[in-house]
Amino acid sequence: MTDYAPTPAFTEQAIGQAGLYDEAAADHEAFWAARAREYVTWSTDFDTTLDWSDAPFAKWYVGGQLNAAYNCVDRHVEAGNGDRVAIHAVAASGEDRAITYADLQREVCKAANALESLGVAKGDRVAIYMPMIPEAVVAMLACARIGAPHSVVFGGFSSDALKARIEDGEAKVVITSDGQFRKGKAMPLKDAVDRAVEGTTASKVLVVQRTGIDVAWDDERDVWWHEVVESASDQHEAQPHDSEHPLFILYTSGTTGKPKGILHTTGGYLTQCAYTNAVVHDLHPQSDVYWCTADIGWVTGHSYIVYGPLANGATQVLFEGTPDSPHQGIFWEIVDKYKVSILYTAPTAIRTFMKWGADIPAKYDLSSLRVLGSVGEPINPEAWRWYRDNIGDGTTPIVDTWWQTETGAIMNSPLPGVTELEPGSSQKPIPGISAEILDDEGQPLTEPEKVGYLVLTKPWPAMLRGVWGDPQRYKDTYWSRFGPEYYFAGDGAKYDDKGNIWILGRVDDVMNVSGHRMSTAEIESALVSHPRVAEAAVVGASDETTGQAVVAFVILRQDGAEGGLEGDDLVQELRNHVGQQIGPIAKPRSIMVVDELPKTRSGKIMRRLLKDVAENREIGDVTTLADSSVMNLIKQGMDKPAAD
Ligand code: WT7
Repeated sequence: MTDYAPTPAFTEQAIGQAGLYDEAAADHEAFWAARAREYVTWSTDFDTTLDWSDAPFAKWYVGGQLNAAYNCVDRHVEAGNGDRVAIHAVAASGEDRAITYADLQREVCKAANALESLGVAKGDRVAIYMPMIPEAVVAMLACARIGAPHSVVFGGFSSDALKARIEDGEAKVVITSDGQFRKGKAMPLKDAVDRAVEGTTASKVLVVQRTGIDVAWDDERDVWWHEVVESASDQHEAQPHDSEHPLFILYTSGTTGKPKGILHTTGGYLTQCAYTNAVVHDLHPQSDVYWCTADIGWVTGHSYIVYGPLANGATQVLFEGTPDSPHQGIFWEIVDKYKVSILYTAPTAIRTFMKWGADIPAKYDLSSLRVLGSVGEPINPEAWRWYRDNIGDGTTPIVDTWWQTETGAIMNSPLPGVTELEPGSSQKPIPGISAEILDDEGQPLTEPEKVGYLVLTKPWPAMLRGVWGDPQRYKDTYWSRFGPEYYFAGDGAKYDDKGNIWILGRVDDVMNVSGHRMSTAEIESALVSHPRVAEAAVVGASDETTGQAVVAFVILRQDGAEGGLEGDDLVQELRNHVGQQIGPIAKPRSIMVVDELPKTRSGKIMRRLLKDVAENREIGDVTTLADSSVMNLIKQGMDKPAAD
C-alpha cells in the first residue's frame, strides 16, 4: 500500500464502490439504465436505454420524459429539503446570500414565467451572458424548465464573439447584467450585448442590475430583471420534456476559425452529470459543502455547478470573484468560512497558488476538505503533490478528471474510495465508460509508454448529440479519424506500466490556455482581420502557470504601413485587436513580426517548428520545408524578443 491508496475509512463511506466496475462490465446498457433510474426522476419511464441505430447520432433513454429543472430544484423541496441551502452566493465584495432549495424554486418559477411573458417557448434558444451571480444559475434552470435550450457565452468573450454565437444559435432573447465586478471595480457588460444583438434574431434583452452602473436603454427591447422577474408569479408547472429534448448549446473552439455549437440533450446528460458528481466527487448532499470554481460560461460550470450538484441536492458555494481579489488567500478564506468539503478547481489555479506560496493557505483552517478535484488540463505531478500536501493536508484524495465540452461529463478519473492514485494521471475510464489508445493506423496500443490517440469505444449518456446546424462537421470531426466506431477525442495519450492512462495534450490545432480551449485558427483569423496583418500563425507554447500560452507569428502587409504604429505599439495594438475580436483570454502572450513563415511545399504552415522556437528548443526536422532558410531567419529575430 502506498500513500496514495484510499484509507479504509474513506472507502467505507464512499458512494462510488468497486462493484460499479463489475456491474458496468457485465452489461453496459443495463448499468446506465440503473444509473438513470437512480439519479433522475422521470415523469415517464424510458423503454429503450440506447438507440444507436443512427450512429453517430445517439438517443438515450428513449420514450422517457423528464424536466431537468424539476430534477434540480422541485423534487428536493418535495422531499422535504426546501430549507437546505442550495447556493452560498459569495459576491466579489465578500457579501454573501444563502439561497435555499425553496428559494431557488420560487426564483426559477418566476424567471420561467418572465421568460414566457417575453415570448420564449419550448425550443426557442436563449443566450446567457452573465457574471457568476445566482441569477445566472436561475436563468439556466428557467430555460431548462421551459425546454428552451440555453446558450451560455462566457462573460469574458467579446461583443463580436457573443454576436457570432447569437447568430449561429438564432437566439430569441439574451439575458445579461448591467455590469460585473472585476477586482472590486464595476465593469460594463450590457454594452457588449447592445452591440452584439444589432441585426440579429434577438428581440429582447433581460438585464439583471448587478452593479448599478449607467447603461444605454432601448425601451422596445430591454427589460429589467427586477421588474419582470420579481413581479412574476412564483408558481410554474414544469412540463415533462422528451429525454432527447435539447437542453443547451455550448460553443467550443475547434480546428477551424468557426466555433462549434456543441449540442447536449436532457436525460442522458443529467444522468451522467449527477452520477459522476456523486461517485467521483463523493458528494453526500446531507453533509458536504461543495465548491466548483469554474465559470458557468464553460462546460465545467454547466455540469458541475448547475446540473450535477443541483440534481443531487448539494449545498454549494458560488463565487463571483477571482482568486487574487481582494487578496491571494480568498479561496482559503472561503473554504474556511463555509467549511467546504469538496473543492473542484483547475491546474492553472493550483500552479498560481504554488507560485504565491504555501504560507498563504497555511493561515486558514482547511480541515473541512475531504475530496479535491482537478479539471481542464493535465496536472503536473509537482502541482498535484503541492495540492495534496498544502490544501489536502497530505491525506485528501485528488480526483484528476479528464473530459471535454463534447463528452458533457467526467469520463476518466479515479474513484476516490477505490483507486490507488497516480499523481499526474486521470488513470482510467470511470464505470460505464470505455476508452482505448490507438496508433496512427488505428490499432489499439497496450504496451506502456507508446504514444497514441485517445478514443472512446462505446456511446455514453452525456455525449454530444451533434454540432448545432452542422451534422457533417460532427461526423467529420469526431467519427471519421478512426472509423465510425471510435469517438476521436483529439488528445494524445499513453499507458504507464500500471495501466494508467496519461493524457498528453491536444494533437490537433487546439491550445489549452488556463484550462480553456483556444483554437489556433480562430486567433489567426482574428489577427489577419487587422488591416496591417497579411499572414499569421499561432501556436500554444508551454507556460509554467497557464499550461500553454498563445504565441503568434505575423507577417505584415507591405502596403498601408505609412504613419501607422510600429514595434511594441503595433504588437500591443494587435493583442488588443484579438481581445476585441474574441476576448481578453485569447490575447497572445507574445507576438513576433516575421518576414516569412515556415511552410511545406503544399503551403501548410509547420506549426511544430514555430512551437520549437516559441519554447526555445532546438528546431526539429526541417526537411519538408519549402524553404529551409526561413527558420534561421525566424530564430535570429527571436533573439531580440518581442513585447509581452
Ligand atoms: C480538453 C477539453 C473538461 C472540462 C473543461 C475543459 C483537456 C481536460 C483534462 C485532464 C488532461 C484534460 C483535454 C481535453 N483536459 N481535462 N484532467 N487531464 N487534459 O473542457 O474546453 O472542452 O477542453 O481539455 O485536452 O480534450 P474543454
